[in-house]
Amino acid sequence: MGISRLVILISGNGSNLQAILDACADGTLPARVTAVFSNRPEAYGLERARRAGVPAIAFPKREGESRQEYDDRLAEAVAAHAPEYVILAGWMRLLTMAFLGRFPNRVINLHPALPGAFPGTHAIERAYAAWTRGEIDRSGVMVHLVPDEGVDAGPVLGVEEIFFNPGETLETFEARVHEVEHRLLVDTLKAVLERSC
Ligand code: GAR
Repeated sequence: MGISRLVILISGNGSNLQAILDACADGTLPARVTAVFSNRPEAYGLERARRAGVPAIAFPKREGESRQEYDDRLAEAVAAHAPEYVILAGWMRLLTMAFLGRFPNRVINLHPALPGAFPGTHAIERAYAAWTRGEIDRSGVMVHLVPDEGVDAGPVLGVEEIFFNPGETLETFEARVHEVEHRLLVDTLKAVLERSC
């Protein structure tokens, strides 16, 4: 099996990026991260990329630039790294078709909730709050394709449920979500790459 080229888009800490970098380094994932982009220049994930010897590209929106113009510029810059897949690992900007249309069936997103639940930001906190109100008994993590501008929606590639424990705090729940994310993201990408080779 060949080595696939991945470009990762992040906005923050980059712990999921780190899981991918580690899995590439130890051979779990038959892939190489060819670039990491962040819309936020201060994102710690860029430092993780640099430490792994991967091009780390701060890519903020310019003043007066429209979403479409930004996404065109981003698509151009990402395409220059010739990715087979573009992975949104904590990328907190909605992408328009100006970007998505350039990489059909090749953009994959991670979301810390079950399909159809809590799209957008703060999904972990919102799921926890819903549990404290007695509305749900579980949440989860999903990895899915991004075909269009639907928020955290698209054909599901991997999903795992996480049940709330008695006495669960937001901190314990959040830690468990991240643990599942790191594993599910790598396992799902591995399955995708094995299928597409
Ligand atoms: C992760 O929990 C990811 O699922 C979430 O952002 C976090 C990034 O953490 N993404 C979304 O909420 C997308 N709607 P990280 O920077 O440590 O990988």
